[in-house]
Amino acid sequence: MTISGKTQLCGVIGDPVAHSLSPALHNAAFSHLKLDFVFLAFRVKAVELQNAMQGMRGLGIRGLNVTMPHKTAVIRYLDDVESNVKFLASVNTILNEDGRLVGFSTDGIGALHALRENGVNPAGKKVLLLGAGGAAKAIAYTLAQEVEALCILNRVAEKAAVLADNLNRLFGKKIVGGALSPSAVQKNLQEAEILVNATSVGMHPNVNQSLVAPDWLKPDLTVMDIVYNPVETKLAKDAKAAGARVISGVEMLLYQGAASFEIWTGHVAPIEVMRTAALNQLGKVETK
Ligand code: ATR
Repeated sequence: MTISGKTQLCGVIGDPVAHSLSPALHNAAFSHLKLDFVFLAFRVKAVELQNAMQGMRGLGIRGLNVTMPHKTAVIRYLDDVESNVKFLASVNTILNEDGRLVGFSTDGIGALHALRENGVNPAGKKVLLLGAGGAAKAIAYTLAQEVEALCILNRVAEKAAVLADNLNRLFGKKIVGGALSPSAVQKNLQEAEILVNATSVGMHPNVNQSLVAPDWLKPDLTVMDIVYNPVETKLAKDAKAAGARVISGVEMLLYQGAASFEIWTGHVAPIEVMRTAALNQLGKVETK
């Protein structure tokens, strides 16, 4: 990589941010396409967020990814946001257009592309979504516009019910929300064509945990797990053993990163290069 007087800067802000995969992903993509861009991670404490956003304007930083704990707090410093951000109250990507800061959330589109690019079109399908946290909300917002039926189950049932109500009001679809009990998961899996785990269950170090008993899984099901550490979760292993199609958390991570990349550069993201970079990086950090 050659850094010149014209090199454009992108980055990620968060706290902590040292283990972010974004620098590896985006620098590999910039370098592959020979784009004069560089990507850095910035640890920004909550009290410094306003200064960081002024810095983005002042220095002409082209784009930022935003991670915990700034995804909601950053919105007040932006000039405009995409319509889904108003619903989600969460931003993971900022574009600096000549000093005008615009906020995006690419998690939902990342999940949709991860499904489609792996041969599964959710249009007209029945989907069971586990979780109602930030990531689940973004996925639900996007999938609600595609699918025939969406059932959202969450440990705190109220959160799933409120999310389902809000989405029904917005899109006028048949979306239900309820408690994430084993019997509810088992019952809803009988109908579901796609299962998405958008909870943190199965994430390192709790690698032997899954919300789904192996014998509830079937060959005609697609299972997408948003957990990417480990790359193959217990749910993914069980689903594979049952003959189901499995889409790993790395795919959603990749496609949400690809969407950010395209917003900043206007170039189609080189997915294979980014996948290799992500997997190499995960190989280094997975068990730490
Ligand atoms: P993220 O932004 O990654 O989605 P989050 O907003 O904290 O993170 O959401 C975490 C999700 O995992 C939530 O749906 C959470 O359920 P609650 O809302 O009931 O807390 C879910 N989750 C975490 N640990 C869980 C567990 N042991 N069993 C079931 N759900 C769990």
